[in-house]
Amino acid sequence: MKVILIGFMGSGKTTVSNLLSGQLNLPVTDLDQAIIDHSQMSIPQIFKRSGEIGFRQIEHQVLLETLQSKDGILATGGGTPLRADNRLKLQEDPAPVILLHASPEETARRIQGSHDRPIANQLDVIGLEKLLAKRQSKYEECADITIDTDDRSPQTIADEIKDIMSN
Ligand code: S3P
Repeated sequence: MKVILIGFMGSGKTTVSNLLSGQLNLPVTDLDQAIIDHSQMSIPQIFKRSGEIGFRQIEHQVLLETLQSKDGILATGGGTPLRADNRLKLQEDPAPVILLHASPEETARRIQGSHDRPIANQLDVIGLEKLLAKRQSKYEECADITIDTDDRSPQTIADEIKDIMSN
């Protein structure tokens, strides 16, 4: 049993994955954490040393490795679907790809105070809105199902995903 979560920063991918993992007794792979483990550097350090292009290259390699698993929950990074080759790999995987959506206001609320997102750190709500609008079609291109997460608890979202996985 496998599911892949995609979505913008702060959409709840990591929180919902951890809930699902506990309840379904499935391993969770958080792509950001796998990138950190792979490179032995924090995400801000990778951006500082190799720029966004270098980060995306590592993200691509680690995505290919993690997609080999046949079971589990994969929480991607907010920028994983930006590359066309990543989108193709996500689409080709037999697991359902679930897009978690949050409004820019809700996103800003959820990620405030976090310092480990080099892209979001520089943006206010308007900046987040513009970035989300630019990415939205790429997210939709590889998503099988979209779930709105505003005003909903992570548990409600996890329950909806469990229903999708059992059908
Ligand atoms: C990014 C999202 C982050 C992380 C990196 C870049 C993005 O993941 O991969 O900071 O470009 O949206 P989260 O969505 O888990 O914050």
